Order: sequence, then C-alpha cells, then structure tokens
Amino acid sequence: MLKLVPYPGVKVENLPGNCILPRKAGICTGPFSNNSIAAFSERCGIENNGPVFLTLRYNKKLPEEGYMLEITEKGITVEASCEQGVIWVLTTVANLLDDGKLPCCRIEDAPKYSHRGISLDCARHFFPAKEVKRIINTMSLAKLNVLHWHLSDDQGWRIESRKFPRLQEMSREYFTQDEIRDVVQYAALRGVEIIPEIDLPGHTSGILAAYPEYSCSGREVNLAACGGIYPVILCAGKEKTFQFLKELLAEITELFPGPRFHIGGDEAPKSEWKKCPHCQARMHELDITSYEDLQADFSRRVNDILKSLGKQAICWNETLRADTPPEDIQIQYWTLQYRDTMERFANNGGKWIYSDMFELYLDYPHSMTSLKKLYNTNPHLGRRSVTDQDGMIGLEGCLWTEHINDPERLENLLFPRAFALGEICWGGTRNYEEFLTRLDAQLVSPLYQDIRITEKNWWDPKGSARRKEAISYFSAINSGMSEDVREQTVESAAPNREFSQSFMNKFFKPSDMPFLLATMFKK
Ligand code: ACM
Ligand code: ZN
Repeated sequence: MLKLVPYPGVKVENLPGNCILPRKAGICTGPFSNNSIAAFSERCGIENNGPVFLTLRYNKKLPEEGYMLEITEKGITVEASCEQGVIWVLTTVANLLDDGKLPCCRIEDAPKYSHRGISLDCARHFFPAKEVKRIINTMSLAKLNVLHWHLSDDQGWRIESRKFPRLQEMSREYFTQDEIRDVVQYAALRGVEIIPEIDLPGHTSGILAAYPEYSCSGREVNLAACGGIYPVILCAGKEKTFQFLKELLAEITELFPGPRFHIGGDEAPKSEWKKCPHCQARMHELDITSYEDLQADFSRRVNDILKSLGKQAICWNETLRADTPPEDIQIQYWTLQYRDTMERFANNGGKWIYSDMFELYLDYPHSMTSLKKLYNTNPHLGRRSVTDQDGMIGLEGCLWTEHINDPERLENLLFPRAFALGEICWGGTRNYEEFLTRLDAQLVSPLYQDIRITEKNWWDPKGSARRKEAISYFSAINSGMSEDVREQTVESAAPNREFSQSFMNKFFKPSDMPFLLATMFKK
C-alpha cells in the first residue's frame, strides 16, 4: 500500500519498478501556469531545466481538484482539469518521494469535499507570518485547502489598516499589509484559500478599544486579557457603525483575493442592545421584537457590504437563531445549541461547513479529542447523520488560542490531527490502523522534519495520564477567567446545566463529573 495520507479516493494501481527523479527534471506545464509547479519544485529540490521528465496535460473530464497520475521508470505524466488538481497531484508525488525514488504506479484521485479547512486564531494570541506559513505548508501536504484566519477578537485586532490605524496601534502585534499579501500568495501556491474572519458584532473589544464610538454606549473599552465572552459589542442601530464597517471591509477585502469572507456572528450577548436607544429605534423601524432578529439585520447589512465587494459571507451557526436569518450566507456549524435552526438550514439546502466542537475543536488537548476520535468523526446533526443530499461542503478543524501562546504547542495541537482531518475531508474509505501505518511512513519524509508533531504516546492517550491532562485543562479554562467574565461566558455559552453536562459527557467519564460540575458552577 502506498504511504499516502490522505489515501487516494478513486483508484490505485501499483506497477513494478521504481522511478529515479532527476534533480534537473524538465517539466512540460502544458496549459497550466508555473504557479502550479512552484511548491513541488521547492519541496523536491527540482530544477526545471533538464530533458522533459514530467508532463502535465489538461483533461476536462476530470473533476474539480481531481487528477490522474502515472509514474513509470521513464517519467511522470499527470492530467488535471484545473490548477488545483495539478497542485494536489504534485503534492502526491512529493509525498511519495523516498530518497530520490518514486514507486511506479497509476493513481486516479479526487476529493469528496471542496472545503477542507483549518481555522487558526491569531487574535487571542498573535503568531507571526512565518509561523502561519509553516502551518499552511504542512496542512497543504495533507491536501487541506482552506485556512480560515481569525484576525480580530476581544484580545486584539491583527490587520494593518491604513484608514483606521488606531486598530493596530492599540493591539500592537499585527500583520502588516505586505505580510498578509505574502501569506496569501504563499498559500495560493500551495492550493490553500485564505478566508479572513472579522468576528461581528460580538467579540469586538479589539475594534472598540480603538474606536469606542461604534458600541452602543460609546464608553471606553479595554482589550480583553483572557478568553471568555464580553458584553460590549458593536451597536446594531447607529448608522455610523455601518459606514465604518463599509470603509474597513473595503480596505481589508482588497488584501484577500479569495471569494469568501467570514463575519463571525457567534456569542454576541445582547445586554447592551437592550439598553440602547439606537438599537431600539432600529427595531422599531424594522417592526421586530427579537434581538436575534436585530442580529440578523446587522449580519444582513454586513453581507450587503460584502456582496457589493464581490464576496460570499460565512457566519457561525448562531446567526440562524433569528426568525428570518440573512440569506445567501454559508454557515459554519460548531455548537449543537439551537440545533433545530441548523437542521432547518440544512434541510432547506443551505451550504455549510462542519466544525462540531466536540469533534473538531483542536484547542482541546489530545486527551479530550484524540487522533482516533477525530479520525472516526462522522458528520451528524444531533442523531441524524449528514447525507450526501445535505449541503455540507466540507469540514474544518478549529484551533482557538485563548490558552495557547507558544508556536510549538500550536503545532503539537494541529499535528498529527490535521492529517486525520485531511483524510476525512478527502473522503476515501477509512481504516484507522492502516491510516496510522501510512502516516508513520509518510512522516519520515524530510518534508515533515521541521514541523513539531505531538509525540506518538500522546496521539491516543489513555488511563490516568489522559484523565489528569483533560481535567487540568478544563479547570484551567474556567479558573483563568475573572469572575464576571466567567459568569457571562457560562451564561451565554452554556445557558443551562443540561448543556454543560452534555458537554462534559462527550469528553469525560461519569466518575469525573462531580468535580467538573463543581468547577463549572462554582460561584
Ligand atoms: C466559537 O467557538 N465561538 C465559534
Ligand atoms: Zn446600540
């Protein structure tokens, strides 16, 4: 069996013999651009100036991102219908390369899902562009093709704005516009779409610390010092809030050429809106009485701005709580709270991304979400399995960084779990033991020597070591927050004991529960 993760989805045929890849291997790109071979040449140390050894051909019958590969002793032939397909077939070749040799074979391959993502939170803690590029490079080796980049939150704003420079001045650590362009270009060469996220209207202390006039009260706001849910959010009633967002989004969308833009919508407490004359006036004007409908109006207006800038908006699934949620948005499903609204959206043919927190949140340590547990994820909404008729466009693992400030820990949490995610998203048949064998063989390649992958004995931790780590992680989350933030967070994120219990049941044993519930509800 070829040592490939993800394993090819359509057909693999082993042929006798090996192919020696020459250093100077001429590449005939046919109709494809040099961009599609750039990462390959770098990964394999190829100089494209010898006699033709690798031929790329256009085959319009192949599916989006799919490819055919034939490796013989004489050379390599690939076919694809788009540049993405070329990037993935050459990723396959790079992964197969072993000490200058390739096994002769014929492969036909294509992914099941178009959205194969990792979300990376650079707002709670900042990680420099160099680190982001390391992650992009390694995730693309697993044929993951989306980096959802969380760039603003209560702890900071991370994009240089020339129009609103106080944003980065207040937050201090941020990506310059040149760095962002560089990361976007680096990702594109590796087949990765960058989706920036500016979380709105909640999780906005990073914005309001610089421009408090766009909250309901206009009072001074501090950057948050730790994780949690903070009550001061953008005002949904002031016209000037939308004028500000229009100018800000016009500037930011220029930096990200991809088609999609994430506008958050999660965990937006409504306590300020309830006291605000501007928000009340807007509700009166719209003749609505529900604050979820006011959030829907907010998101609809931001979506209109994005549409005028040529972007498709994505929101977290709380946005669906309104009686009339905004239309034309893609949804990222993370929380089973308000599951009925998510089910309705899926039943009505909406397009959505699966990021169930119990399965795909990568900030939870391996003790809570082990490699095996993640590998065996089968998307579902409650008890109902997701079928091919649903509009699920793919899966995304989320790495939040409230409690992570060290790049090594960041990489440890991502890898090897991102390889399991890559295999799920690619969509071939799954067999965990076989996956481990292929992964072991693949990780020996020089391509993986720089990235800091969790040590093998922590991939599927068991027994008291597992329990100890999981419990200490969970209680650290709670005790790290100040009392008022924790209360607000527990109230908004887990409005009742039943949800808390179901949360902990997913990760812990019944014998751990008394301690955990006491931690969660300590006053
Ligand atoms: C989220 O975890 N608040 C999307
Ligand atoms: Zn308001």
